[in-house]
Amino acid sequence: MATTRRKFIRTLGTSGSLLFGLPALADATQVQTLLSKVRVTANDKVRIALIGSGIIGHYDTAAAMKVPGVELVAVCDLYQGRLDRAKEKWGNHLFVTRNYKEILARKDIDAVLVCTCDHWHDHITIDALKAGKHVYCEKPMVHHVDEGQAVVAAQKASGKVLQIGSQSASSLVFLEAQKYFKQGLIGDVTYAEAFTDRNSANGAWLYTIPNDASPKTIDWDMFLGDAPKLPFDPVRFFHWRNYKAYGTGVAGDLFVHSFTGLHTITSSLGPKQVYALGALNYWKDGRDAYDIVTGISQYPKTENHNAFQFFTRVNLADGAGGGSSTRLIGTEGVIDLRGNTITIKHFKRPVAPGIGGYDSMESFPKAMQEQLLKEYDQKYSADDRKTKWADEIVFEAPKGYDSRLDHMINFFESVRTGKPTLEDGSFGLRAAAPALICNLSAEKKKAIDWDPVTMKLV
Ligand SMILES: NC(=O)c1ccc[n+]([C@@H]2O[C@H](COP(=O)([O-])OP(=O)(O)OC[C@H]3O[C@@H](n4cnc5c(N)ncnc54)[C@H](O)[C@@H]3O)[C@@H](O)[C@H]2O)c1
Repeated sequence: MATTRRKFIRTLGTSGSLLFGLPALADATQVQTLLSKVRVTANDKVRIALIGSGIIGHYDTAAAMKVPGVELVAVCDLYQGRLDRAKEKWGNHLFVTRNYKEILARKDIDAVLVCTCDHWHDHITIDALKAGKHVYCEKPMVHHVDEGQAVVAAQKASGKVLQIGSQSASSLVFLEAQKYFKQGLIGDVTYAEAFTDRNSANGAWLYTIPNDASPKTIDWDMFLGDAPKLPFDPVRFFHWRNYKAYGTGVAGDLFVHSFTGLHTITSSLGPKQVYALGALNYWKDGRDAYDIVTGISQYPKTENHNAFQFFTRVNLADGAGGGSSTRLIGTEGVIDLRGNTITIKHFKRPVAPGIGGYDSMESFPKAMQEQLLKEYDQKYSADDRKTKWADEIVFEAPKGYDSRLDHMINFFESVRTGKPTLEDGSFGLRAAAPALICNLSAEKKKAIDWDPVTMKLV
């Protein structure tokens, strides 16, 4: 590969240095390009409730409360300790309950953040939309593919905003990659890959269980919801991701981010066929979900992109140290995303096909070789023989950049202005479905066809 020059692009935010007129690189820890643009008046207040006050509920609420004009008024959870913590952290004035329907009945709540385990997403989202609330629902939008259409229909009927919470859809990094992709810098995409590998117990979802977990402190019946009835089990309650009855496994949980990112960059509606393999290699702790899944999705040619294959992997017992990345490989280059950095290498192919070297020439009679070389020299100039490498492009988002905050800003912007969200129910279903189909394919041990336009299994 020829050596290329590197072109660094860093996003300038409204950091202090800019205010002093210095064109410095944005390296402030909390630079938020969208946050600086939010304009609200006192009448623009949006009152929210959190439903599901677990790990991500805290992250989402923190991000929501950074958006000017957003006020948290109520919290719902099934574990008493989390309701106590909500009051301790966000104020004694909060209305707290174990029953989300009490939240939906309140007139002083405009929007809800649905941060429960996956098997509750569709039920609470549909009920909330019917109750006239705007909904930010965590990914994956649904637990099973066939639940998706009802959510999309409920949003349409309600006229309220529904945004799904895979934040790559609002990410500065993925939207920047989208620009390079649309400019055709890497030629026609032929292949893409995304992996998320982990190697710790927390990474394998063995989160801390509180020391007062009991049927008194937890509404176990409500937790079970539409899942099979079982006696109280704190492990299932706090490690729900590891059980198919409540979670969507590594594919539903993590591939969905990969599909969201890919669809954001390529404007794709999704694959037409999905095949996956799953296995439980290491975390044999009673879970029934796989700890490694690899999936291959075939994307059809559309007006936005070439036909290509997408390879996805999650390995929860990755002795190589873990990590994640997304790469899109085209006929003339590669877009490589790691964390908040994008690297693009691209080139123009030589006009001349090349002759000699590892070729058939040596196997031909000498006189013929000379004749072929002469003809080649006459046909192609020195320039025709060059692979033309462009400058390598490196884009870095500002240090401390948080796509979750941008995703929240976009949600509340839609709530206030009616502007379409970047990740509505259809987008959410088109990202969740291929991820969930990976589970189906691994279980059935066969490829599964999906219609990304009608959003139905074929
Ligand atoms: N976007 C992201 O980056 C991201 C990251 C992590 C998790 N998530 C998603 O967020 C969701 C929650 O994940 P988590 O790690 O916070 O789980 P968690 O177990 O920490 O919290 C889930 C909470 O939901 C509550 N809950 C369950 N059913 C409920 C119901 N019917 N009514 C009220 N509360 C209910 C539980 O009591 C629990 O406290 C999942 O769907 C997950 O996929 C998204």
